[in-house]
Amino acid sequence: MSENLDRATLEPIENAGLDELQALQLERLRRSLKYAYENVAFYRNRFDAAGVHPEDVRELADLACFPFTTKQDLRDHYPFGMFAVPREKLVRIHASSGTTGRPIVVGYTRRDIDLWADLIARSLRAGGARPGDLCHIAYGYGLFTGGLGFHYGAERLGCTVIPMSGGQTERQIQLIQDFRPRLITVTPSYCLNIVDEMEKQGINPAECSLEIGFFGAEPWTEGMREQLEQRLAIQALDTYGLSELIGPGVAQEYLDTKDGLTIWEDHFYPEIINPESGAVLQDGETGELVFTSLSKEALPIIRYRTRDLSRLMPGTERAMRRMQKVVGRSDDMLIIRGVNVFPSQVEEQILYFEELAPHYQLEVYRERHLDAVRVLVELDVRLARLSDEEKGRVEAQLQNRIKAFIGVSAEVRLGEPGSIPRSQGKAQRVVDRRR
Ligand code: DLL
Repeated sequence: MSENLDRATLEPIENAGLDELQALQLERLRRSLKYAYENVAFYRNRFDAAGVHPEDVRELADLACFPFTTKQDLRDHYPFGMFAVPREKLVRIHASSGTTGRPIVVGYTRRDIDLWADLIARSLRAGGARPGDLCHIAYGYGLFTGGLGFHYGAERLGCTVIPMSGGQTERQIQLIQDFRPRLITVTPSYCLNIVDEMEKQGINPAECSLEIGFFGAEPWTEGMREQLEQRLAIQALDTYGLSELIGPGVAQEYLDTKDGLTIWEDHFYPEIINPESGAVLQDGETGELVFTSLSKEALPIIRYRTRDLSRLMPGTERAMRRMQKVVGRSDDMLIIRGVNVFPSQVEEQILYFEELAPHYQLEVYRERHLDAVRVLVELDVRLARLSDEEKGRVEAQLQNRIKAFIGVSAEVRLGEPGSIPRSQGKAQRVVDRRR
């Protein structure tokens, strides 16, 4: 057990046994299904059409008989059609931007906001945060759930919150230098921008006050973790969530085990399915994550297809199961001449080269009626000077590794530091040039 994590400070459910957890889940599942059925026309119609009723549920596995809910269902009921309470009962609305079509709107009652703050406080505590810590929040505020989600949770834990939001990188650095926060919550890609900028200013990031980072909202690899941990001299922990469920605060890596994200299963019931057939897979098998909310009031969500690929693993020191770091979302998966490619796989290969920085984009284009991919990647800012010959060698080597480890032929183009567009939140890894 890490010195930073006093087990006595955990909530009782974090230390509960499997039987106790599952009994609680079954009771809450039945209640949540009934609540959705009675209060949301969409669910009533869907359950009736599928010939299932909340009363049918005898054990947790019975959930598999219920229909899925998709992003499209939420879009079709834009903006307020999926809520189980009158609009007046909502105290907050968030929305996910959605690159195409209508955004997805989610809402919270006062009790939901309270639960959310509790779950983020639990996540922060699991990651080694303590009351009294200064917490720098560089997730975006606004309709995105990252900023306000962590804000309320950090306050709930008793932290001193620095509500910086994303962007204004120089200001971020100044505040980190002056206020000396112990915690940072930020997307891993934007954190890397902050670190680059520190170095540009002649500041050694490893000497800054930060000790623990809560990184999420986008896929990131173990290589990226290593890089962030080394350059900032911090513990980099993975934190997962999605607006449709609540926002951040769904699953969190514990500091003492750091072996995948523990799902807050007392509030979100996970399943893994085969994305094609919809069949439920065994724990340990990789597939699409599906979640059912067990205690939400404004927007109960039943068997929501996240499109995130992961697998479930037994708890290590706890009964609650863990999920493996998300490999990627099916929306971002490219199929290049029959081979499935995730940006995170390319990231892994990029991080193999000390000459390269994990600022990258995959461009998909058409070549003689077939899809092709080009990898744009930057030279590391710390050793930007490479001869053309050396650059050509690195390009060829990366191309070879991508072919060998991922199985696709990709053109690689090495750019100068700063040549890939920067994001203040989630990085855009795939650019579609086919249209
Ligand atoms: O990204 C909530 C969040 C904020 C999580 C801050 C963590 C930290 P959305 O904007 O609705 O919500 O996007 C949700 O982001 O389905 C995943 O595809 C991706 N995602 C979130 N966390 C992770 C993670 C927030 N740790 C979508 N690893 C999800 C990989 C993640 N992908």
